[in-house]
Amino acid sequence: MTKIKFRNNDEMPAFGLGTWKSEEGKVYNAIKTAIKIGYRHIDCAHIYGNEKEVGQALSDCFSEMDISRKDLWITSKLWNNSHAYKDVFPALKQTLKDLQLEYLDLYLIHWPVTLKRDVTFPTSAEDFLSLDEVPLAKTWEAMEEAVYAGLTKHIGVSNFGIKKLEDLISKSEITPEINQVELHPYLQQEDLVSFCKSNSIKLTAYAPLGSADRPDALKSQNEPTLLDNPTITEIAKSKNATPAQILISWGLHKGFAVIPKSTNPDRIKQNYDAQYITLTKDDMEEISKLDKEFRYVDGSIWIYKNGHFSSLEELWA
Ligand code: A2P
Repeated sequence: MTKIKFRNNDEMPAFGLGTWKSEEGKVYNAIKTAIKIGYRHIDCAHIYGNEKEVGQALSDCFSEMDISRKDLWITSKLWNNSHAYKDVFPALKQTLKDLQLEYLDLYLIHWPVTLKRDVTFPTSAEDFLSLDEVPLAKTWEAMEEAVYAGLTKHIGVSNFGIKKLEDLISKSEITPEINQVELHPYLQQEDLVSFCKSNSIKLTAYAPLGSADRPDALKSQNEPTLLDNPTITEIAKSKNATPAQILISWGLHKGFAVIPKSTNPDRIKQNYDAQYITLTKDDMEEISKLDKEFRYVDGSIWIYKNGHFSSLEELWA
């Protein structure tokens, strides 16, 4: 199993299980199946609405299987309405309570977007707090304190572009260790990837399979389907693998952590086995030609005139 090494030599398994959109009633079995197969990295978030069930599954795995807390890597994320300095610890403690854990391995600021405390998703510009009122650097200060308090071993961000990372790095004691962003052959983000590399920020690839089970409200018309891409399907055929396995393998070969979501036992196993596929230099070169700068999670739900960001360019900068 490939590992991603952190600055203090802690190691995160590069392959993990995503839990965004994993429904309550299904995620319990998904976690247990995954851990039984050999998954050691689970990616969670408060906003996924399923951390209690994930926590129950983890707790049952600890009591039923020969596995202990230190064998697993658990990530979670701070939601946008808890960015105020005083709200970060309570949010993290709620996540720990739901997950039935004493510490996280990694806690991320989910989005560089700050909502009022009582808002979950915005419906108008008034739902945002200004970044002057609640600067990301102040949220980050509370994240750093969570490390010092032993509530999480590592901290990072998600959905941050280069400008926002530069700004945060210049104001932080602990440089973010991870940036979790959408990454797949249609969105290769070479500039961001090389910026992160040169600042020793590791990357986790979300939506590695194209996230087809997103709610319709988050989809655009005529989206390209990654799993049907002819280059991907051809490479898959030549290796007796599935297109999903090639997409996962591509991310791992790029040095990313990759967290495909599945609640289906066969696909959970199939995705796990993708770790053992080797892509050649030619395969990687063919796949590198597929970049379309296409985002499945385009972030338009955060764009409001007079809100935080009035354009997608500003959001992703
Ligand atoms: P399911 O949970 O029923 O397996 P992403 O990780 O990019 O968000 O993609 C998740 C979507 O991809 C879900 O719809 C998930 O469905 C599906 N999926 C997961 N693994 C595979 C696979 N090996 N082959 C095809 N689809 C998959």
